[in-house]
Amino acid sequence: MTSIKEAISNKPWLGWLLFLATVAVVFLLGMLASSVVERRSEAKYAYRPPTDLQPFETDNSVWGKFYPREYQSWLMTADTSFRSKHAGSKPLDILTTDPELVVLWAGYSFSKDYKQARGHYYAIEDNRNTLRTGGPLTPDAGPQPATCWTCKSPDVPRMINKMGAESFYSSTWSALGPEITNTIGCGDCHNPEDMTLTITRPALREAFERQGRDISDAGHQEMRSLVCAQCHVEYYFRGEGKYLTLPWDEGMTADDMEKYYDSYEFADWTHAISKAPMLKAQHPDYELFKTGIHAQRGVACADCHMPFVAEGGVKYTSHHVQSPLNMISSTCSVCHRQSEEELMNNVYERQDKIAALRNYLEDILVVAHYEAKAAWDAGADDRTMEPVLRLIRQAQWRWDFCAASHGGSFHAPIEMASVLSNGIMKGLEARIDLASILTGMGIRDITVPDISSRAAAQKSIGLDMESLIREKEEFKKQILPLWDKASL
Ligand code: HEC
Ligand code: HEC
Ligand code: HEC
Ligand code: HEC
Repeated sequence: MTSIKEAISNKPWLGWLLFLATVAVVFLLGMLASSVVERRSEAKYAYRPPTDLQPFETDNSVWGKFYPREYQSWLMTADTSFRSKHAGSKPLDILTTDPELVVLWAGYSFSKDYKQARGHYYAIEDNRNTLRTGGPLTPDAGPQPATCWTCKSPDVPRMINKMGAESFYSSTWSALGPEITNTIGCGDCHNPEDMTLTITRPALREAFERQGRDISDAGHQEMRSLVCAQCHVEYYFRGEGKYLTLPWDEGMTADDMEKYYDSYEFADWTHAISKAPMLKAQHPDYELFKTGIHAQRGVACADCHMPFVAEGGVKYTSHHVQSPLNMISSTCSVCHRQSEEELMNNVYERQDKIAALRNYLEDILVVAHYEAKAAWDAGADDRTMEPVLRLIRQAQWRWDFCAASHGGSFHAPIEMASVLSNGIMKGLEARIDLASILTGMGIRDITVPDISSRAAAQKSIGLDMESLIREKEEFKKQILPLWDKASL
């Protein structure tokens, strides 16, 4: 055995070799470190924190002075031209394309008006114009609580800071109308001091707390989804004060949330046809997404809906939040090698199959509501009907949970298929029970009225659409100008 020292003294060139090898290794390590730093700063972007953005600045154009690229791309959410096979930004009247929904929501405001979501730019406008909001023409009173504004504007965190969350929620939609004027924007997701991502909505923070988690501990990649989870989640208005609450205490699946609502005997409304105590699901996008493969692999909402783009050598985050199918090359293709066409087909295949299950459940539910009505009309009692109505509630909750999550068929196809299959089972069980009740009462035929168009379906459930539309027009003529003036 010869030591290294002896080896070097025997062969002097070996020392030089060792020296050069060390230099090479150090050089390579240096290259690696600088590339890591470069990537990190790339991820962190190059910008100078602003010096004079005020806390709770709500005017998006003021932020836009400091961040023109992000602002310009944010303005693009006004574009309504893109339409994919099942979604997109075009304003589609869903009750017209699918009048069965009028029946499913009979007795609830969604049967009056329901349109496909479009860009963040329109959140205020669409909230003001839908027939679901409004009511008596007095500026300070209306049937809707102020809670309805919560997901629409950076004016909301400003007003919650001023009034406190409790008084904000228990105020009315009309009373706060003049205050809520800037559509979803910078102040909803960013801290104006340093532009970090931030949680501005108390409901999400509180839901985390009740689960024993502190949302302030969330990492950077998690925050790129959590800013969206402030609004794209299931929620309900708790109690008289209409306190906005995420029903996550038992967990975040359809079954868990149903358990939570059942424990309160909570119902959003009583169905006008079947008298079932119903639940209305509201876009559980984040919850469903979390069960899918992309979330499990650490992909965030922003990776697909707010991609990095380059412009004149500068990289920035596109704030044109929209369907990723309108920007496959900057979203999916960052991680997947397949052609755009193949990736698009992957999405459509999942959506088509889930839509077929959803439509099947929808048909079952429509008939079940009318069969329950027939049983009531023939004199069935509460005790006979209770278990059937519970099954209808359970089946429709599962249908709505999936129908209301517009991206869910791609975000989490397996979970969606599982929830819908359970819904189909419950719906069929309800119909089997109803068949035996109806047979026992000697009833063979049940009548389903004409529901072949939106107008026919709305008429069949007794909605007076003309007066609703007239009221809305009055609101736009009389009240809206006052709101706009007050906000100046
Ligand atoms: C729905 C949430 C949301 C809204 C609304 C929003 N942003 Fe962002 N913003 C993000 C996300 C997510 C990122 C990526 C941050 C990251 O990964 O660190 C980002 C990044 C940025 C950055 C860092 C530079 C870059 O391009 O990555 C700036 C500056 C910025 N936004 C400005 C704005 C401005 C100005 C507005 C209003 C016109 C705005 N943002 C509205 C979520 C939002
Ligand atoms: C302050 C609440 C809020 C936040 C935060 C928010 N959204 Fe939205 N989002 C909405 C509302 C409300 C609409 C529907 C607007 C309309 O139709 O008028 C919407 C619509 C959308 C649409 C449909 C757009 C289209 O053109 O079809 C997508 C996609 C979307 N949001 C994704 C996201 C993602 C991803 C995030 C996080 C980066 C996010 N949203 C953050 C409230 C929010
Ligand atoms: C940030 C990276 C990233 C982006 C962006 C991304 N994916 Fe993926 N995708 C993944 C990973 C990781 C998986 C899991 C694959 C694995 O682990 O083998 C996956 C899985 C998939 C799968 C198989 C899932 C299944 O159902 O079994 C499909 C299909 C897919 N992605 C399509 C898309 C499409 C379409 C887009 C754009 C809308 C997209 N991906 C965007 C990383 C990404
Ligand atoms: C892997 C990519 C990917 C990720 C990550 C992702 N989405 Fe999506 N999302 C899609 C695709 C693809 C669609 C279907 C778009 C279509 O059909 O045009 C979609 C659809 C949507 C829609 C309906 C859009 C419309 O036009 O009606 C919303 C809302 C949405 N996503 C929100 C979110 C939220 C919130 C998150 C995070 C919790 C998220 N997405 C994460 C790919 C993604």
